[in-house]
Amino acid sequence: MIFVTGGAGFIGSNFILNWLQSTDESVLNIDKLTYAGNLTNLKSIESSPQYSFAQADICDADKIKSLFKAHRPRAILHFAAESHVDRSIHGPAEFIQTNIVGTFNLLQASLEYWRGLDETEKGRFRFLHVSTDEVYGTLDSKDPAFSETTAYAPNSPYSASKAASDHLVRAYYYTYGLPVLTTNCSNNYGPMQFPEKLIPLVIHNALGGKSLPIYGDGSNVRDWLYVQDHCEAIRVVLEKGRLGETYNVGGWNEKRNIEVVDAICDFLDQVRPLPSGVKYRDQKVFVADRPGHDKRYAIDASKIEKELGWRPTESFETGLKKTIQWYLDNEEWVRGVVSGSYREWFGMNYGGRV
Ligand code: NAD
Ligand code: TYD
Repeated sequence: MIFVTGGAGFIGSNFILNWLQSTDESVLNIDKLTYAGNLTNLKSIESSPQYSFAQADICDADKIKSLFKAHRPRAILHFAAESHVDRSIHGPAEFIQTNIVGTFNLLQASLEYWRGLDETEKGRFRFLHVSTDEVYGTLDSKDPAFSETTAYAPNSPYSASKAASDHLVRAYYYTYGLPVLTTNCSNNYGPMQFPEKLIPLVIHNALGGKSLPIYGDGSNVRDWLYVQDHCEAIRVVLEKGRLGETYNVGGWNEKRNIEVVDAICDFLDQVRPLPSGVKYRDQKVFVADRPGHDKRYAIDASKIEKELGWRPTESFETGLKKTIQWYLDNEEWVRGVVSGSYREWFGMNYGGRV
């Protein structure tokens, strides 16, 4: 079996659903169930004999050790993290704890377990660390895209904590020989993303008649990748990636934030026009910028293509349409996650901006 940490979150749950569709190998989902963890994402497979769930904090060393002992996985895919930049600005402590201490704890437990395996099992074991392009910092408009050799220069508490975790993963390979792999991916979007991130937030607010908050002038650039393409890349790296290597994963798809928001508004105008005839774009509001807001991210994903034959299959247009349609078809899901604590977050993050 494989372990997936953070499998109740956005990418982890998409990954588990994809995994169960394409293999008969079992998965143990290890998740603390923070505000971002949602087991309804996995409702369709909860009774599958291939799937099991352990509610656990990755910082809990004894618990993690006991899971290794009981289940003897052949790989651990590490998605669990505090993942939202704005939350890291308001409260970095959880990011240090989960992203750095939690990753250290998983590495240490993996190492102890791996050392006890026989030679064949040892050779097969993998620790795959799911990370972000944000560790590389920010680019100017004419700079070349991030490659695997770009120097780390994180600018937010989130990206700094992920950078630290990447370094620890690397160190466990060079110092102890633990068979690790790291992926650094650009911004994901798709079904089941918590509506604090730009794309689901804009869809949710547009449909609710609320303002669409654009930080600064909307010219910041992100590279966008449809979540299933990311899941596929992770599977390929797990299967064929060279030990100790990092692989950049991206969509070859840079967009300014304003273009992303406009594209969502225009698609909603087609599929869910407002009865008043007013356009969704009228809900856009420019608000105070995020402190330390990285100007541009761009990924050079040629290494994973050349070495492992992976390329994204979804274009931004097709991926965005699928995503918007999913949110239209799953309003119940959105209502479920937009809890009291979400409303408090909204007041804290956006209250002082307008
Ligand atoms: P998410 O916030 O949607 O989900 C995170 C999951 O981790 C949740 O289920 C949460 O309950 C769980 N978790 C948090 N702290 C935990 C702890 N201490 N112990 C156990 N579980 C814990 O995040 P996501 O967007 O699915 O991101 C998954 C991974 O991918 C993260 O490592 C993130 O850095 C990375 N990543 C995300 C993106 C993106 O655009 N979302 C892009 C590149 C890389
Ligand atoms: P986000 O989805 O938070 O991802 P990240 O910060 O990891 O890139 O934000 C994507 C971009 O959208 C980023 O440049 C910040 C911007 N943004 C807004 O303009 N308004 C918002 O309300 C949010 C959440 C993000």
